[in-house]
Amino acid sequence: MKLIFLGPPGAGKGTQAERIAARYGLAHISTGDMLRAELRAGTPLGQQAQGYMNRGELVPDDIVVELVRVRLGEEDCQNGYILDGFPRTLTQAQIMDETSIDVDVVLNIEVADEKLVERLSGRRECKSCGAAYHVLYHPTHDGKTCDECGGELVTRSDDVPEVIRKRLVVYHRQTEPLKEYYRKQGKLTTVQGQEELAETTRIVLSAVAEAEAKL
Ligand code: AP5
Repeated sequence: MKLIFLGPPGAGKGTQAERIAARYGLAHISTGDMLRAELRAGTPLGQQAQGYMNRGELVPDDIVVELVRVRLGEEDCQNGYILDGFPRTLTQAQIMDETSIDVDVVLNIEVADEKLVERLSGRRECKSCGAAYHVLYHPTHDGKTCDECGGELVTRSDDVPEVIRKRLVVYHRQTEPLKEYYRKQGKLTTVQGQEELAETTRIVLSAVAEAEAKL
């Protein structure tokens, strides 16, 4: 199965994509994670992307499309994948269609803007392995170190109030039109991102199973 997880920053795309990918044996492809990995490795691509990400703007389409194109050629994607945070512009979606990057279902996770600010402000990430937590909704055992590897928890540089607000504006302007694009293709399924992580996972799993049955 080939899925896109669409939704505003903080909707829970990454959290849910990880769970669904594990359940279905799919590759989880997050363009945000890939760009941050390039940044940590200090590659030219990472340096090029850094300014855009720190300002809460989108990285240019050609950079992101090339990253995804290369990643989709890898062995673990042949059984299917979840694209988390890609495409994020109409141009990216059109390039996908033109280059026959297949997608069966687009799962759109809806959450109100006020909630998103709270979620992103409380997100903490492990500096070593990148695991994501939340101070209230998904805390680690001691609130200071990662449950997976014991690494230090940090706040992402784009999870500060002024950048969060910018990311929301960018989402509404540049990414939200994709809902209509995929609705017209008959691929859009929308779920409400609930307060409870486990409840959202249950709703997402059932939406994916329903969509899979129609394939
Ligand atoms: P990216 O890393 O993709 O950021 P984003 O889309 O802004 O999404 P987030 O990772 O912030 O949120 P999420 O929906 O995954 O939520 P999460 O599960 O973490 O991109 C970063 C940047 O890279 C972009 O700004 C851009 O510059 C660039 N970029 C990436 N892709 C690009 C592209 N295609 N084109 C151009 N540029 C691109 O959850 C958030 C928090 O809430 C967590 O703490 C979690 O524990 C908590 N939470 C989740 N669900 C729930 C729930 N149901 N209840 C309570 N808490 C919850």
